[in-house]
Amino acid sequence: MKKKLITCLLLCLPLFAHAAGDVHLEKADINLENKSSLRHGAKLFVNYCLSCHSASMMRYSRVGQGLGLTDDQVLDNLMFVANFDFDKLEEGEAKKIGELMTVALRKEDGEKYFGTPVPDLTLTARAKGADWLYTYLTTFYVDSKRPFGVNNTTFSNVGMPHVLWELDGLKDRVPKKDADGKVMKDKDGHEIMELVRITEGTMSDAEYKRAVTDLVNFMVYMAEPIQLERQRTGIFVMFFLIILFLLAYMLKKEYWKDVH
Ligand code: HEC
Repeated sequence: MKKKLITCLLLCLPLFAHAAGDVHLEKADINLENKSSLRHGAKLFVNYCLSCHSASMMRYSRVGQGLGLTDDQVLDNLMFVANFDFDKLEEGEAKKIGELMTVALRKEDGEKYFGTPVPDLTLTARAKGADWLYTYLTTFYVDSKRPFGVNNTTFSNVGMPHVLWELDGLKDRVPKKDADGKVMKDKDGHEIMELVRITEGTMSDAEYKRAVTDLVNFMVYMAEPIQLERQRTGIFVMFFLIILFLLAYMLKKEYWKDVH
């Protein structure tokens, strides 16, 4: 009985964990088959994220393979912060296509500047999920109490600045009002808050959401580059097993037909 109780409790643990992180997540409309979205996402990633964050379990060459880019395209378009060896730069062999996506920022410097180490992002999409990432990157808002002047509804008191603010503009977090101008409340009597743009970015809201979708798409790809292949192999294996089952069944019928 005791054992059963413990098993039940263990099985229920994930439910509690989910309840604890109770933030409404938007759905990220990602598609790993969409190569142009992945390429755009990779470009955003190397331009806006790969200065603080590393993706040190990923190689540039692997990104190129998965996204259908030639080595030259990767060298010219994605390898801005690759481990430059300036002595060799003149000899023209500084960037190597097989390099890992590391950054120069050291862990202790990250802690010094941001008050917390900057996490590696190679596997974040697997740990947090695409919807979490998408919601996180679309819910930064102005908060003068925070060191970088921004906070985030998905990751409260986050240590990261809103690095995409130029594209997104700035948002304020204000109480949501209904059609009559009355502040809306949830069933516990708390005010319902919403984010409203106070300065425009270079992108419209829809464009920004599209860009973030591409970025998240790339991060999901990066966290498991083999995913599509794995799914295809899975379907093939299922198909194979069905055929094998049919053959085995027919064979069994044939063997046993005279035995009564
Ligand atoms: C200026 C430095 C900087 C840049 C540039 C930056 N980040 Fe961050 N990021 C941080 C820091 C610092 C944290 C840790 C925040 C904390 O724990 O409070 C963080 C945390 C995160 C997290 C949460 C990870 C986790 O496991 O909790 C994600 C996801 C993330 N960043 C994504 C991005 C993406 C995507 C980009 C590019 C668009 C980006 N970051 C650019 C500094 C940066």
